[in-house]
Amino acid sequence: MKTVIITGANGNLGRAVTKEFLDKNYRVLATVSNDTARADFQTHPNLEVAVVNLTHENETYEFIRNSIGKYRVIDAALLLVGGFAQGALAAASGEDIHQQIALNFETAYYVTRPLFAHLMENKKGRIVLIGARPALNPAQGKDLIAYSLSKSLLFKLAELLNEAAKGADVSVSVVVPSTLDTPLNRKSMPGANPDNWVKPLEIAETLEFLVSDKSKSLKETVLKIYNNA
Ligand SMILES: NC(=O)c1ccc[n+]([C@@H]2O[C@H](COP(=O)([O-])OP(=O)(O)OC[C@H]3O[C@@H](n4cnc5c(N)ncnc54)[C@H](OP(=O)(O)O)[C@@H]3O)[C@@H](O)[C@H]2O)c1
Repeated sequence: MKTVIITGANGNLGRAVTKEFLDKNYRVLATVSNDTARADFQTHPNLEVAVVNLTHENETYEFIRNSIGKYRVIDAALLLVGGFAQGALAAASGEDIHQQIALNFETAYYVTRPLFAHLMENKKGRIVLIGARPALNPAQGKDLIAYSLSKSLLFKLAELLNEAAKGADVSVSVVVPSTLDTPLNRKSMPGANPDNWVKPLEIAETLEFLVSDKSKSLKETVLKIYNNA
């Protein structure tokens, strides 16, 4: 049985991803940000849910080291934590930039730093980061400066780590959804057609493929999942 870490497991995407991996018989080490969110999960023999503030480097390091100590081998991490912020340059203060980098980049970086070392020791493993289209597309990104800048760091991190992993069966992928079909997006964009968006289950199935042996030859993967949005 493969062991995967899923961060943001109680989010819209996180719930679908956690279910998909449990259904496919993985052991899931899920993280949430508070006890209420943890209590919302139904117990499952292959699921452990931990409360970790992933913007705290030491707390995150402890979680990763404890997970490795307990299970010996971690096969993959799906780093889903992130959040959106509106605003073009004039509206984006330094504090806004810091907050978005903490939420979208540091939460992934603090997991990746100790975990990548573990994967390289084992010469095997996967890390999947969740990017965002405005980080690749300036026409969208110019109105979402803090969000785009913070997500763009994830693409760079993947490039740098894939270079460091050359020759090992270790890879870091970035999955880029357009708009997810979530209750929040339906509420905030009442005029849009959700059929054009991407279902969390579609992303979940793609993530499972990326972690499975079927994707063994994929390297330096940036996967755009846009549907018609
Ligand atoms: N929604 C979209 O249309 C869309 C489009 C493109 C990309 N994405 C990306 O896809 C990912 C998932 O999106 P989503 O819509 O599922 O988001 P979501 O529902 O808001 O879920 C985000 C998750 O991150 C957790 N989190 C936030 N801060 C945390 C912290 N400091 N420590 C630990 N956990 C923390 C949240 O926990 P709490 O609820 O407890 O705070 C929540 O579980 C994000 O990276 C997002 O940027 C989303």
